[in-house]
Amino acid sequence: MSNKVVMNADVSHGKIDKNIYGHFAEHLGRCIYEGLWVGEDSPIPNTNGIRNDVLQALKDLNIPVLRWPGGCFADEYHWKDGIGPREQRKRMVNTHWGGVIENNHFGTHEFLMLCDMLDTEPYINGNVGSGTVQEMSEWVEYMTFDGESPMANWRKENGREEPWKVKYFGVGNENWGCGGNMRPQYYADLYRRFQTYVRNYGDNKIFKIAGGPNVDDYHWTEVLMREARHLMDGLSLHYYVHPGGFMNKGDAVRFDQQEWKISMQKAVFIEELIEKHSTIMDKYDPEKRIALIIDEWGAWYDVEPGTNPGFLYQQNTVRDAVIAGVSLNIFNNHNDRVRMANIAQMVNVIQAMVLTDEDKMLLTPTYHVFRMYKVHQDAERIDLSLDSKMLEVDGKQHPQVSASASKAEDGTIHVSLCNLDNDNQADIDFELRGTDFTNVSGEIITSEKMNDHNTFENPDKVAPTNFTGFVKEGSKLKVTLPAMSVVVLTIK
Ligand code: AHR
Repeated sequence: MSNKVVMNADVSHGKIDKNIYGHFAEHLGRCIYEGLWVGEDSPIPNTNGIRNDVLQALKDLNIPVLRWPGGCFADEYHWKDGIGPREQRKRMVNTHWGGVIENNHFGTHEFLMLCDMLDTEPYINGNVGSGTVQEMSEWVEYMTFDGESPMANWRKENGREEPWKVKYFGVGNENWGCGGNMRPQYYADLYRRFQTYVRNYGDNKIFKIAGGPNVDDYHWTEVLMREARHLMDGLSLHYYVHPGGFMNKGDAVRFDQQEWKISMQKAVFIEELIEKHSTIMDKYDPEKRIALIIDEWGAWYDVEPGTNPGFLYQQNTVRDAVIAGVSLNIFNNHNDRVRMANIAQMVNVIQAMVLTDEDKMLLTPTYHVFRMYKVHQDAERIDLSLDSKMLEVDGKQHPQVSASASKAEDGTIHVSLCNLDNDNQADIDFELRGTDFTNVSGEIITSEKMNDHNTFENPDKVAPTNFTGFVKEGSKLKVTLPAMSVVVLTIK
């Protein structure tokens, strides 16, 4: 059976917010230290302490927004430890992630400098779990107040005259868990209190993000929306794909066909989460003013053998490319409510873009998908309906194909397609209405074996190539997606 896609290029469903292509960098394992920050005196080539190879790779993704400093780390982070002369900064223990020494060399100034270098919006996550209202309030004052005040003066003493623009601010992280083990009513009250003192200074208007539910905790969403909706701009949602479950998550590379299928099924589940949480949000916010911010998502496996279990370092195969493609298609297709997403995490942690080993760096299959999909950033989502063949695992069904489409300002159409099937190609009868197209080209990422991945010895084993698996028949295309593939078509 063929899959069927009908696209109406003249029917728009609003903008796909570029922030769906956002990232997350936590003080965890080798994400910040080694992965991004090597320090100015490092033999690894760097610009103001940020390693050049990683910086260039990330620049090529057009990263719109970057969340920092956590994650669970955020609710143990005290920002005042991370400013001033580096050699005088407090050393602390990163209790949550591996019990290693955190020397605070990467702090507020370094993070905001990195955002400038990447031309990305900072998204700062504040500390509710172990912090105070005053500490949070003073952080915002330190970064954004233009004028005479204790915090602004301190910032100037530390070498930064002008305030920064900080648009996105998270009031706590996973406050149902590592962020304080709170119940929703209690967190809703704390949220109301803390956010009161997250001030807008001058023309810096902060978009406030409340800590949202864990996976399918719909009660949390209900309580937060009922009690605090008028004081938030976004509500977060966290969801990770763990093929083996939370305790034994499964191996990132050494997995079998059954684990592939379960991974796909779990990846697709995020659509149900978005729809059900959105239904609750719709009840309280029918105008969809409040964004659903999926500020942690990705495939999270067991760590690579022999690495620190607290560092969450994992490899990345063609399976991760497909999981990324499917997830981004789902976010694109829910652009009315999903207006930011931040994959976990940027470098060396969970489903990373980039892996490093001392002075070496490689791009993961997930990186390539983000590079291929960047064409959707801020483009108009166009109408697309998909009738997919269904696959089955453990008595549950999921589609073989995933798709989304957008139109750029110059009229170019981009369609992203994934084949979730590890065994069979996917044939698609693709009807394109509302456009007189003459030219089609494409890019594909796939591989022969499902466990294929990039290593420092063979960094381009899984990399994009030219895609030619389509035939134009009038206003239709016949597309053949190889097993386990992600394709982006450019249609003019
Ligand atoms: O991304 C790793 C961790 O996952 C984050 O610190 C936490 O918020 C989540 O549980």
